Amino acid sequence: METNIIPQHIAVIMDGNGRWARRRGLPRLEGHRRGYKALKNFVIDAAELNVKVVTAYAFSSENWRRPEAEVSGLMQLIRFAAKAELEYMKKEGVKIITSGRFNELPQALQDQFNEDYEATKHNDRITLNIAVNYGGRNEIIDAVKQAARLAAEGKLAPEDIDEKCLSGFMYHPELPDPDLLIRTAGEMRVSNFLMWETAYSELFVTDTLWPDFCMDDLRAAIDSFQNRTRKFGEVVDEDLK
Ligand code: IPE
Ligand code: IPE
Ligand code: MG
Repeated sequence: METNIIPQHIAVIMDGNGRWARRRGLPRLEGHRRGYKALKNFVIDAAELNVKVVTAYAFSSENWRRPEAEVSGLMQLIRFAAKAELEYMKKEGVKIITSGRFNELPQALQDQFNEDYEATKHNDRITLNIAVNYGGRNEIIDAVKQAARLAAEGKLAPEDIDEKCLSGFMYHPELPDPDLLIRTAGEMRVSNFLMWETAYSELFVTDTLWPDFCMDDLRAAIDSFQNRTRKFGEVVDEDLK
């Protein structure tokens, strides 16, 4: 049954920058550069459609395994983008936050993200959550550590550790879980993204490479989402017909 429900939170695995560049005989970093432009448009397109949160996978805890030149190029690019787009994001009503092991990032990048957050924290049109040095398993480990610490201090009874309690220790407990998870460039895997939060997200995989992703692709993803029946384990009316 088709609905007109707009996903409140869209998570996106922005994949295919390298392939985009290779097809054009360009360096991989050029693909990443175009990828960041695509993200800028994506956030504004999502806001236009009334999406309230976008979580974008920019750098995974496994991406450190790439050649050092690509890793440092990406770190520089992310810092450049976080600086260059700040005024625009501020004006467009975008609140910028991050997810991941923040204190392992280069200091200059941490400083830039702190500045972005301070300058945009009162914006409420849409939240852009940039997942950088992010790993879904790390997030769960970090949450469990906090719970264990409190338990050791006698402030949390092990019996009281449940879904709600652990959710409260994730990086952004204030955000709703993603309704829709988009992956570009055709790969059918989650690559350690939002392991906890996507338990019931709808998945949409497109062959479009991330730098080519545009409003039409976003509309196609939302259209697909609107034709799904979300059951959360229940039996719904249409199953009984
Ligand atoms: C995604 O593009 C961006 C990052 C992982 C940083 P890729 O760099 O993974 O592009 P492909 O998969 O090689 O095409
Ligand atoms: C996932 O893409 C990480 C980001 C998009 C930042 P990868 O390209 O790193 O994923 P794998 O290695 O193909 O699983
Ligand atoms: Mg990739």
